[in-house]
Formats: sequence, structure tokens, C-alpha cells
Amino acid sequence: MTTRINPSILAADFANFERELGRIANADLAHIDVMDNHFVPNLTFGLAMVERLQQVTPIPLDLHLMIDDPDRWAPIYAETGAYSVTFHAEAAAEPVALARRLREIGARAGIALKPGTDLDAYLELLPEFDQILVMTVEPGFGGQSFMPATMPKLRRLREAVDASGLDVWLQVDGGIAADTIAIAAEAGADTFVAGSAVYGGEVPADRIEELRALAAA
Ligand code: DX5
Ligand code: ZN
Repeated sequence: MTTRINPSILAADFANFERELGRIANADLAHIDVMDNHFVPNLTFGLAMVERLQQVTPIPLDLHLMIDDPDRWAPIYAETGAYSVTFHAEAAAEPVALARRLREIGARAGIALKPGTDLDAYLELLPEFDQILVMTVEPGFGGQSFMPATMPKLRRLREAVDASGLDVWLQVDGGIAADTIAIAAEAGADTFVAGSAVYGGEVPADRIEELRALAAA
């Protein structure tokens, strides 16, 4: 299984994003946490920033939209040329129609589930998505502790994806670090978001390789 490490720039220096993206050149994708202060109680950056980040890095962008009304906004983010656009199941009115629209525009379509969100309604929709994000913390802030209670959901998803033969990436996000990444890998994740674990190190690129090795072990 391919292992992807997607550093989150939420933990980077907000005054130097171009330089901070340069420090993670060995990342698979760069994870961009868009927060609107409504869906989550925190505010980060929006469309203009995403457009500009795209111009200053060759790393494909993995957008995580923690925003209300993704049905309206996610396609607009996809139009920026983002590689992957993930919206929250809890916020979307028509998740299937939205995922189809994202694919039409040319982005990988992702759906995110908060820790308390039940999987059942989404299992039969697997063919509609390119990525399922299992949140391993409550969305909104970096630096929180990994929630092992989310692992049964991930395990069920891994079984379903393997049984389907589909190329759906299973992403985890929140509290992923050297001491937790193997737990999520064992439960079936193949795509790992890490903010503080990458940018908390003096040499973020080294932390990426360390996490990659631990996930594959
Ligand atoms: C949290 C964000 C995460 C965050 C993870 O709502 O979705 O992407 O950056 O940060 P760490 O890795 O520090 O838990
Ligand atoms: Zn995120």
C-alpha cells in the first residue's frame, strides 16, 4: 500500500508560507486547513490564499474545508486547480452531487467525518469518493491528542474499500505523530496528515521521512 504523508501548514509560520512549503519538498501533498469560524470555532485562510499557495509550490494541495455550505464553496476551491478537495459530511446538503461536481472540475473528491459522525450512511457511497478523511480529533485546532476511539471506524472503512477494489484513499488527521502513526496505519489508513509533528521539528523534511518509515513498518 502506498503511504502518503501530508503535512498541515496550520502548524507552519503564518508569515512565511512560501518558505514553509519549501521545507516540506518531500511531502506527498500539502494539507491546507480552510476554516470559516462557523463550521469550526477557528478562522484560517480562504480562497485568495489557496490560489496564491498554488502559485508558489509544486506540491499538490490537499484542501480540507472546515466550512459551512461546501455545496456552494467547494467547487470554487476546486476551480483553483487543487489536487484534492475534502468537505465535511456534517456540512454538506448533497454530498454525492457535490463529489460528482468536484470530479467534473478535475479534483479528487474527499469527504470528512468528525469523530462522532456515523459511517453507515457513507459506506454504500464509496464509489463516489476518492478519499475518506477519518478525523482523529475534533476539527478546529492543531496540537490536539489523537483519539483511538476513532479506529474502529477506520477499520470498517478499510475492509469496505478492500472488498470494493476501489482506489479510495483513507486519510487520518489530528494528533498523528511518531507515537500514534503506526496505530492508524495498522487500522487501515494510507494517507496521514501531520501538523505539529512535522513543523514542530527543526528539520520538517526529516520528520516526514521518520513518519513515513513508522507508517510503513
Ligand atoms: C485540525 C486540522 C488538522 C491539524 C492537525 O482541525 O484539520 O489538519 O492541522 O494538526 P496536528 O497534526 O497538530 O494534530
Ligand atoms: Zn485538516
